[in-house]
Amino acid sequence: MRLLTRISDVQRALDKEREAGRRVGFVPTMGFLHEGHASLMRRARAENDVVFVSIFVNPLQFGANEDLAAYPRDLDSDLSLCETERVDVIFHPNVDEMYPDPNPFRVTVGEIGSKLCGRARPGHFDGVATVVAKLFNIAGPCRAYFGRKDAQQLVIIERLARALNFPVTVVGCDIVREPDGLAMSSRNIYLNGEERRAAVVLKRALDEAAAAIGSRERDARRIGNLMGSRISSEPLAKLDYAAVVDAETLEDLDRLDRPALLAVAAWVGKARLIDNTTVTPEGASSEGSS
Ligand code: PAJ
Repeated sequence: MRLLTRISDVQRALDKEREAGRRVGFVPTMGFLHEGHASLMRRARAENDVVFVSIFVNPLQFGANEDLAAYPRDLDSDLSLCETERVDVIFHPNVDEMYPDPNPFRVTVGEIGSKLCGRARPGHFDGVATVVAKLFNIAGPCRAYFGRKDAQQLVIIERLARALNFPVTVVGCDIVREPDGLAMSSRNIYLNGEERRAAVVLKRALDEAAAAIGSRERDARRIGNLMGSRISSEPLAKLDYAAVVDAETLEDLDRLDRPALLAVAAWVGKARLIDNTTVTPEGASSEGSS
């Protein structure tokens, strides 16, 4: 396993692999790695010859009042997880290497970046798209693995790759959960015991909505309200949104007449948590595999 901090070293190393006919699988991360990240690495390992992981807490995607300084970091533990998952190359740059210009050139994603999480986090998805565009240019032609946990991020990155013609195949991977259903997240470390127990309400809200859809509920507003009131019934949770949107465009739906994303976000203590599931008009919850 090679740990690299320079962009040019990564480009040289991965070009060499491709020249030798090896396919590159890329997993971008912000570190503090957990089983969710490990599942992406395993998929990348299974489908490619070389596994490349980036670990970089990207300042551009944090708002001024967000948790950039507090964001958890543990490089030693990250390196040992990567070793276990047989990662070949790790890129761990400092901020100057990624953003030498104090006023960096940015990718703007447009309207889709102001929906859902973008409402509470203006500029967040421009920051994500900017760093991912840079990372795609650093990685070169590859398959890149992203979790459905961040469903809006995945939709935006699929569009980024298409819109800007990156030679990258974006692969979406299923959400990995704790035994009680809480979606794994680096930010779960912010939760104390009581908050940790309360946090499961996001998944419960999604399950109740899926059950209602299973019993033929098709009214998107009622489904949204059901999820919202379930989350608000938890005293330690503060609802941000509970939405039923078109799975591709993220536009609000009136009726569940096409594949829909049920998406929720709430504050529990210091942690802003998100979760989602995709449902089809037939009522089936679909955790697709591509
Ligand atoms: P980070 O939050 O570290 O997540 C890295 C990748 O792991 C993302 O694709 C995310 O969706 C995936 N992931 C996180 N938790 C998961 C879970 N429980 N199950 C499945 N996948 C999970 O997302 C980012 O970093 C950044 O925005 C990044 C894309 C690296 C750009 O800075």
